[in-house]
Amino acid sequence: MEKFELNNHELIPAVGFGVFMIPNDGPTYEATLKALKAGYRHIDTAAGYMNESDVGKAIKDSGIDRKEIFITSKLWLQDYGYENAKIGIENSLKNLGVDYIDLYLLHQPYGDYLGSWKALEEAVAEGKIKSIGISNVTINLWNKFKDGMTIMPAVNQVECNPFFQQKPLREEMEKYGIKLEAWYPLGHGNKELLENEYLVSLANKYNKNVGQIILRWHYQEGIISLPKSTNDERIKGNIDIFDFELTDEEMKNIQAMDTGKGTHDPEDLSNETRLMGLKIHD
Ligand code: A2P
Repeated sequence: MEKFELNNHELIPAVGFGVFMIPNDGPTYEATLKALKAGYRHIDTAAGYMNESDVGKAIKDSGIDRKEIFITSKLWLQDYGYENAKIGIENSLKNLGVDYIDLYLLHQPYGDYLGSWKALEEAVAEGKIKSIGISNVTINLWNKFKDGMTIMPAVNQVECNPFFQQKPLREEMEKYGIKLEAWYPLGHGNKELLENEYLVSLANKYNKNVGQIILRWHYQEGIISLPKSTNDERIKGNIDIFDFELTDEEMKNIQAMDTGKGTHDPEDLSNETRLMGLKIHD
């Protein structure tokens, strides 16, 4: 699996397997094991997904050396604040059954952000986390937080696909060496995208499916993608994107598909209120 280098020189596999919305106690275990068998070496979970323990079990049972697998998890809002975050990190380590996490993100840009970030920075110093990052952070929110950070985030995980390419945000993040990670990299099953005539023509040309064309586009843009699939063929296919290359012209044509609009606006106060109210434990 091809890798990208982060701003702290750690390497991250370019495509990861996301387990958002997959239930714990079985389904996440099966899906993660299947992904690892198919060749994924990067799993993206979160405390808020409530399935870290299944991910941990699958990693153990896969027989693959822990060091070969890149694990991302995220701190949920309920555990924000310096003291709470320290406990949240310990809980993630315990649930995953590991002694370090490769990448740990602040899942949402609300609440006591910088107090939580300080706890993440300390966990890096203690060797509990290798890289730390942010998620759902827009340029405005970045400007609010960045001066309070000692360690620069390694990544910003946001919604991104050919219809919502996050160009201004990517330009801003690039100044700090922060890599973009894409959630909903395939537009979350958006038919307009997956059946787009131009993308279908590229799929025919390269003998790939449209999802693979989109994931190849992410890769050539330098974006880490986290595609989701429950279908065996597509799980395998979504990492089979390293044996062909889109031309400059094809990249430009896809770049021209950007509408600048996505489905989630982190600056929308109703999202903040809703997410701040979501509890994942007592
Ligand atoms: P399925 O689980 O049947 O494969 P995203 O990662 O952007 O959230 O998109 C996930 C959606 O895209 C799911 O509905 C998934 O359906 C579908 N999907 C995953 N991989 C591909 C692919 N290679 N081509 C087309 N659709 C895909």
